[in-house]
Amino acid sequence: MKILFASAEAYPLAKVGGLGDVAGSLPKALKALGHDVRIVMPRYGMVQAPREEVVQFPVHLGDANHEAGLRTARIGQVPVYLIEKPDLYDRPKVYEYDDDGKRFGFFCKAILDLLPAADFWPDVIHTNDWHSALVPAFLRSTASQDERFRRIGTVLTIHNLLHQGLFPRQLFDWLGLPGSMWNHEGAEFYGQLNFMKAGIVFADCVNTVSPTYAKEIQTLEFGEGLDGLLRSYAAKLSGILNGIDHDVWNPAKDPFLIQKYSKSTLEKKSADKVALQKEAGLPPDAKAPLIGFVSRVTAQKGFDILVETFPQILQMGIQFVLLGTGEKKYEDPVSVLARTRSDLIVWLKYDEALAHRIYAGSDFFLMPSKFEPCGLGQMISLRYGTIPIVRSTGGLADTVVDMTADPSTGNGFVFRDYARDALLGAVQRAVAFYRARKGWRSIQRRAMSVDLSWKASARQYVALYERARGPLVGA
Ligand code: ADP
Ligand code: GLC
Repeated sequence: MKILFASAEAYPLAKVGGLGDVAGSLPKALKALGHDVRIVMPRYGMVQAPREEVVQFPVHLGDANHEAGLRTARIGQVPVYLIEKPDLYDRPKVYEYDDDGKRFGFFCKAILDLLPAADFWPDVIHTNDWHSALVPAFLRSTASQDERFRRIGTVLTIHNLLHQGLFPRQLFDWLGLPGSMWNHEGAEFYGQLNFMKAGIVFADCVNTVSPTYAKEIQTLEFGEGLDGLLRSYAAKLSGILNGIDHDVWNPAKDPFLIQKYSKSTLEKKSADKVALQKEAGLPPDAKAPLIGFVSRVTAQKGFDILVETFPQILQMGIQFVLLGTGEKKYEDPVSVLARTRSDLIVWLKYDEALAHRIYAGSDFFLMPSKFEPCGLGQMISLRYGTIPIVRSTGGLADTVVDMTADPSTGNGFVFRDYARDALLGAVQRAVAFYRARKGWRSIQRRAMSVDLSWKASARQYVALYERARGPLVGA
């Protein structure tokens, strides 16, 4: 099958969070299954590209004609189409600019307009999150006259329903989408253009990144205002659990580690703990349980309950390292607390190499998320024999089995309620289990034995593409 995988980020060219990991690894797994898969993304300032010649191609938005450049890079064996448009993309960050609507609206149309220039006619375009979610709408409108476009199927994967891409009506007009799509059954959401909603309505198939989140988003609590719409499209909605790239996340081969180790040489993992303690400036105490945390610092990741519980957690005689960036509202109290404690180390930055050393050097990995579409942190930590402590939501519920509830299959510690006491209770259980030592090696081995590769999920995506492909009906 010919697949065009559209994403705003793809590791290692550009990564902000889990979307970058997925876009850098799922296409490789599809390629390994024998499919012709190519990635398309904008070329930001930090994206290194080969010095080959740029092909110019026209991008039509309504009656206006723009120009963009096309270059090809690679991630492993997978070709990556980079869309060049310096005034929109040649900037130091991926997101968070005032004109993001224009930047990604343009991206959506450019994805279709590059097909003739690249002479690549995919069976399916796989769009991801709001940044590429207008592709199905464009495909059903402006491109619907052309048979080559009409044959393309579309999939939208929702990685995070919180971010929907909401913009004023002027953007809809600038993009040249047809007036027939401006209504509450189309791209409009309470008087604004909603990229994600347009994707849900116009894509042939919609999925999320875990089976539990696929159910959750159909409820008021997790639906972010779109639960009714999602329920009405339940027939084309499914959940497929993410995988992780076993080449990037592998303690036996990880170039960022002081000491490599595997399931059969788990005793060597302690050298990574010592190294992490040293790097963090923590006392070299082998017996103190070390809890790691690598994440965006936002409400989604559980900071409301974590900030309140932190002092009590630290009273348990543990060590804690936190790496992340995000909202000042949470960064500030956490760093203020860290200044008064020698057992809490906080790095407010993005650091890929340090993240690897935290996954390897910690005993536990904490993810008390309020909601979590899939979550990769807990999967990576399982692979590193670092025991996850998580709240039971979304993909966390689908990947971590509570040790107390099921000691023979447990691979982590799970709590249910989004509340301080529940979080505290889970950390207490985890720490007590660690101190008792009995069963510690076996839980680590069980964690490392979980199959978190893309193998099974990539096949499920192929089945989804099969469902999505086929002739489109014009809007
Ligand atoms: P999300 O996509 O919601 O941010 P995920 O758990 O799916 O959460 O993925 C987060 C990814 O980003 C993981 O690969 C994690 O290691 C990485 N990450 C998050 N924050 C940082 C940071 N400050 N430095 C390095 N890596 C980070
Ligand atoms: C989103 C979600 C996260 C998921 C990632 C990759 O950023 O917040 O849970 O793992 O996308 O799908």
